[in-house]
Amino acid sequence: MAQQPEWPDPAALERSLKQLAALPPLVFAGEARNLEASLADVAAGRAFLLQAGDCAESFDEFSADAIRDKLKVILQMAVVLTYGAGVPVLKVGRIAGQFAKPRSSPTELVGGVELPSFRGHIVNDDAPTAEARIPDPARLVAAYHQSASTLNLVRAFTKGGFADLSQVHVWNQQFVASSSEGRRYEAIASEIERAMRFMKACGIDLQAEARLHQVDFYTSHEALLLGYEESLTRRDSLTGDWYDCSAHMLWIGERTRQLDAAHVQFLAGVGNPLGVKLGPTASPDEAVALCEALNPDRVPGRITLISRMGAGKVAAGLPPVIAAVTEAGHPVVWACDPMHGNTVTSATGRKTRHFDDVLAEIQGFFAVCRAAGVWPGGVHIELTGDDVTECLGGAEEILEDQLHVRYTTTCDPRLNARQSLDLAFLVAELLRA
Ligand code: PEP
Ligand code: CO
Repeated sequence: MAQQPEWPDPAALERSLKQLAALPPLVFAGEARNLEASLADVAAGRAFLLQAGDCAESFDEFSADAIRDKLKVILQMAVVLTYGAGVPVLKVGRIAGQFAKPRSSPTELVGGVELPSFRGHIVNDDAPTAEARIPDPARLVAAYHQSASTLNLVRAFTKGGFADLSQVHVWNQQFVASSSEGRRYEAIASEIERAMRFMKACGIDLQAEARLHQVDFYTSHEALLLGYEESLTRRDSLTGDWYDCSAHMLWIGERTRQLDAAHVQFLAGVGNPLGVKLGPTASPDEAVALCEALNPDRVPGRITLISRMGAGKVAAGLPPVIAAVTEAGHPVVWACDPMHGNTVTSATGRKTRHFDDVLAEIQGFFAVCRAAGVWPGGVHIELTGDDVTECLGGAEEILEDQLHVRYTTTCDPRLNARQSLDLAFLVAELLRA
């Protein structure tokens, strides 16, 4: 089985998995079905998917403020996209379970010392010592509990007033509000307020319209640790079908999408909507075979194909994949992850991404989709609500020698709140075009 940790104590692993199997599900099957129905709208070109959040959630940086700020950015991006492009935006977080990380090598060099790779806080710790890197199955249960409290807060924020459209100004954080993107956002927020005052003056009962006061927000993560996912897989009492109740949507990563292997087989058996990452080596035949294996009945909304080819490769790599999947009659959502094909190591040795490459891949993705006659259905972004300096460029021009200033990610470099907002404006323009 690809990308599984070598747990040193199999009995302890068994105990953790048993414990997880006895704990309540984090989400309900009916919610996953609702998400699939909304994704079917995206597949049909009637909505746009915004999937965003951390590369890897952290046990250390876990607070109500951090969750709230991440939500703020995502809500802001959704407002920019909805208002700017006039399409409904389906919001899915890389949150409340996005812990496990696939690694290209079992070991990594930290300050010249070779250590077992950090695999996410659900497996081991990122501290640069051999001891910290030993996989500890108690972390599986800790990740479940952190996911539960994250999800609880996300539900409270999105249903309990914080995501109310009357709060549209409040989502603009101070360090964002003073920037050019922030001011551009303020202008939209003011127009929305004016439109709501107008509707109220026309006698429309805004209070009665739940959609103005609540937001549907779904969770997702990479289904990497199959023991964890299996322990949280439950039979739905309404339909009798199996659902992975660790999140609404699960995706298969670039490193675990081998057709006859365990990850594809496991996810083929659960009813959740699924994502599949497709990197530059994905062939058209492979993409079609994955759709066949995971969605033989061609249910719209079941599969989201997430292209992550890299800015320089999307123009050549994606068209044959789209042509083959379309030809085979698979009703997929086409989404673009402009992050993972554009990761570079800076001169100072930090993993980073240039904002221009991120934008270039999205532009390339839109161009390819338009030329192929398919709907560019969504973006998949690694971001944070914090004012970090992890990705280069953007309107504030983060430079290589500034990366160290606030570089806090436990894994890949994330867009900060200003860069994320900037990106949303660009995507809205592309959607309008
Ligand atoms: C990720 O989404 O964090 C990731 C590891 O992506 P990929 O599988 O596309 O490399
Ligand atoms: Co990542």
